[in-house]
Amino acid sequence: MALTSKIVQTKTFDGQKPGTSGLRKAVKVYKEENYTENFVQCTLTAALGDKLTGSTLAVGGDGRYFGKEATLKIIQICAANGVSKLLVAHNGLMSTPAVSCVIRKYKTDGAIILTASHNPGGPDADFGIKYNIANGGPAPEAVTNAIYDMTKKISSYKICPDLTVDISKLGKQEFQVDGHTFIVEVIDSVSDYVAYMKEIFDFDAIKGLLQGLGGKQPLNVLINAMHGVMGPYVKKIFQEELGTPASNCVNCEPLEDFGGLHPDPNLTYAADLVEELKKGQHGFGAAFDGDGDRNMILGQNAFFVTPSDSLAVLADNLECIPYFQKTGVKGYARSMPTSGAVDRVANKKGKECFEVPTGWKFFGNLMDSGRLSLCGEESFGTGSDHIREKDGLWAVLAWLSVLARKQQSVEEVIREHWKLYGRNFYTRYDYENCETDPANKMMANLNNYISDSSNIGQLLSSGEKTYKIAKIDNFSYTDPVDASVSSKQGIRIIFSDDSRIIFRLSGTGSSGATIRMYIEGYESDEQKFSLSPQDVLKPLIEIALTISQLREITGRKEPTVIT
Ligand code: G1P
Ligand code: ZN
Repeated sequence: MALTSKIVQTKTFDGQKPGTSGLRKAVKVYKEENYTENFVQCTLTAALGDKLTGSTLAVGGDGRYFGKEATLKIIQICAANGVSKLLVAHNGLMSTPAVSCVIRKYKTDGAIILTASHNPGGPDADFGIKYNIANGGPAPEAVTNAIYDMTKKISSYKICPDLTVDISKLGKQEFQVDGHTFIVEVIDSVSDYVAYMKEIFDFDAIKGLLQGLGGKQPLNVLINAMHGVMGPYVKKIFQEELGTPASNCVNCEPLEDFGGLHPDPNLTYAADLVEELKKGQHGFGAAFDGDGDRNMILGQNAFFVTPSDSLAVLADNLECIPYFQKTGVKGYARSMPTSGAVDRVANKKGKECFEVPTGWKFFGNLMDSGRLSLCGEESFGTGSDHIREKDGLWAVLAWLSVLARKQQSVEEVIREHWKLYGRNFYTRYDYENCETDPANKMMANLNNYISDSSNIGQLLSSGEKTYKIAKIDNFSYTDPVDASVSSKQGIRIIFSDDSRIIFRLSGTGSSGATIRMYIEGYESDEQKFSLSPQDVLKPLIEIALTISQLREITGRKEPTVIT
């Protein structure tokens, strides 16, 4: 079928300043006239430049509301811009880690991911368009800045409005657009992803653990896909490959509004999983976010594994995974607010450990240059250099590999780890949807506080505890590979015993401002390992709230989410 494209005159728009990952707003913004078209054109032009004509790209998303309409617009705009081939997700569903896997496997020039990650979906909720580059990872700041700049200059976009594609049918469809061939191939990313996981992990060992082969007690798991994109991946891996009963895989139908749930795997928004695990019938529980890159791990009786501890435990046990037996363990990394538990493992093993700003894009260069095998963030993100995104299901399979090897429960593994390394007590307070001006004012005050060097050496007390300020700064990172500098990545107040208070504003929220307050304290006394982090960290929490005047300035008495 011969088709022609057209050029539509359009007005500039404020596409959105780049945040920590991807770009997202409420659906109603994307539905404004030409907003999506403008955004896609800016993304393609800014990210690919001369390489756009003749390029191969992938498109997929987490299945949220507006994803199918946006997919069709992207297909039409790519066709008009001379793209040669698009790999489109079957029914538009492709998890963020699977997109990364597909980019790398089929060597595409990049991919567009339609997701707002862990944010709610539906007609009145969030939508997002994210761009990943040819290494499979999120676009670095240089690219997202270029996209943003272009949104302020755009005057027209190209589209092929008569082109339609049925994305529920697998296979290739060919079109002639303005005399060139444009191929759309609808692919099943679940098979590609599962095939890769089978190369990475020892599925027989995991199956043995779950089914209790060799006279062992079976491990009863509960996997919650939160009605996000992970349903089909969970079903294929757990039910088909590992023989888990369907009743142990819940919320596995992707829904456009995630069934009204907030698809963020934490103790608040995945409370269902926590409640089920508390009953003691399952030895392992896991949940994912909307696009499948985040994970939460629970043990029996809802024993919570903090993402920071999860990273440290995996770091200590990577050798039980066939992939790392082949590649060797290169180095580790964590985002700055993530606890220092992994640093202790790196230290013991004599490996490099990098501290990068918040956002997965900062791990990419380290992986590409062969210096990083495993990394994580306190925000329920864990992953490795098998792809360039964090990977929820990979983390779950990694944990099951560790349990299979150690023949211990989740809690036993964690307690053994603390015994060996001490415990980094950790908590994060999120104050979501604050008014923007007070939140900015609070951060400005904190900036003044850390700029005053006379605060160094000061003693701060709360209850019985007194802490001495050793270092105050706004975290800055120089990428060891390309020397790019990212400054003002979070206010840090670091005490002489290595306890830390960190404040930053979220870059992923879609309305108002979200303040994140991170508190960490280290304990080597075994007698204290069973105490609750909220009790142990109470004095530091009070000090943080006092220094920042958070309650007074924002009017918020309590956080929305405590992790
Ligand atoms: C949040 C997390 C961060 C993560 C990002 C994308 O960003 O804190 O670790 O990389 O989501 O999943 P934030 O909202 O804090 O900017
Ligand atoms: Zn996500």
